[in-house]
Amino acid sequence: AELGFDATAAEKGGYAHFMLKEIHEQPDALANAIRGRLDFNLGTSVLSGMGTSPRELAEISRIVLVGCGTSLHAGLVGEYAFEDLANIPAEVQQAAEFRYRNPIVSRNDLVVAISQSGETADTLAAVREAIQKGAFVMSLCNVVGSTIARETSRGVYLHAGPEISVASTKAFTCQVAILLMMALKLGRGRRFSREEGMQLAKAIESIPDLVARTVRQSDHIAEIAARYAKNEHAFFIGRGPMYPVALEGALKLKEISYIHAEGYHAAELKHGPIALLEKDTPVVALACDIPGKDKTLGNVEECRARGARILGIITEGDHEAAAVMDDVIEIPRTHPLVATIPAAVALQLFAYHVANARGCEIDQPRNLAKSVTVE
Ligand code: G6P
Repeated sequence: AELGFDATAAEKGGYAHFMLKEIHEQPDALANAIRGRLDFNLGTSVLSGMGTSPRELAEISRIVLVGCGTSLHAGLVGEYAFEDLANIPAEVQQAAEFRYRNPIVSRNDLVVAISQSGETADTLAAVREAIQKGAFVMSLCNVVGSTIARETSRGVYLHAGPEISVASTKAFTCQVAILLMMALKLGRGRRFSREEGMQLAKAIESIPDLVARTVRQSDHIAEIAARYAKNEHAFFIGRGPMYPVALEGALKLKEISYIHAEGYHAAELKHGPIALLEKDTPVVALACDIPGKDKTLGNVEECRARGARILGIITEGDHEAAAVMDDVIEIPRTHPLVATIPAAVALQLFAYHVANARGCEIDQPRNLAKSVTVE
C-alpha cells in the first residue's frame, strides 16, 4: 500500500472490474474449453470425461438438464441442441424443484447437472436424487474437484479459469460450448452424417474468434448502453435458442444494474407484458438471422407501435433487421445454435456498461452470492 500498489487492481489485470476482465477473457476461456475436444476427421467431439461407451451413448433415450441461475439458462440452450442436433428428447428442470417433484428418471435417462462452482446446494441435491433413482448422471462444472464434480464421477470440466465476478459470464459461454459438443457427439450416433458433423465441429472451433469480434465492440456497446441507463424497466425477447439468451440477458441486467428486466419468449409478449410498454420502454430483441427471425421482427414492430425503444442483436450486415431497430449490436453470421454464444456476450457487455453508467458496484451486487450453498 505504501508504494500505491493495490493487489486487487493487479488481479483485475488493468480492468475496472472482474466482470469486465472475465468478459474479455472469453476468447481464451472458450479456446481452453474446446481445445483437444473436436475430431475433425470423424466430425465429432472427444469428451473423455463423459466416460461413455458407444453402447451407453446409444442407449440414452432422454436427457434432463438441471442447474440454477445462469447455469439453468445454459441448460435451456442445451435442450435445443440435444433435440435439434442429436434427436434426443431433452428437458430442463430447475434443480430446486427436481427432488421435490419425485422426478421420473431411470437408467436410460442422462441427467446433466450444470454448475460453475460445483457447490450449489439445490443442484447437488438434484444430483443425489438422480443417482439414487439410478439415472446416468454427469456434471458440467468449472471448479475442479468440487462436490458435484466428485459425486457425479463422470462429467466435463469447463476449463474456463477462475470466475470471481458474482454475475457469471465466461462460465455460461463455456457451458453452452460444451453442451454443443455433447450434442454433436450424441448426434453423430444418430441423425448426423460425418459431413454434417464436420461442419458443426468447424462452427464450434470458430467460437473463440466470433466472441473476440463481439468483445471488440465494447466501446460501441458502451455508447449504446448510456442511452438506456436511466430506464427502470427493460424487456428482452427471443425465439428458439435465442429465447434462453433473452432470459440470460435480462438476468445479467437485473443482477448488476438493478433495473427491472424481464426475459420473454418473443411470442409471449402479446399475452401480457406488452401491456407494460410505453414510450421509450427498452426492448432488447434477439433478432439474429436464424429460423424464426421474421416472426421476431414482427414482434419488434408490435413493440415499436407502442413507442418502445428497440435494441436489436442482429447478424452482421442484416439491413432488413437493422431497419426496424433504434440501436443495433451486430454479431458474426454462424450456425444458429453457435450464435447464442456471441449474442450472450453482447448482452453481458450491455449489462456491464449500463451498470457502470449507473455507478453500480458490479462485482459484488447487493444481496447476491457467488455460490449459494443453502437450499
Ligand atoms: C448464484 C450466482 C449465479 C449462478 C448461480 C448458480 O446465484 O450468483 O451467478 O449462476 O448461483 O451457480 P453455479 O455455481 O451452480 O453455476
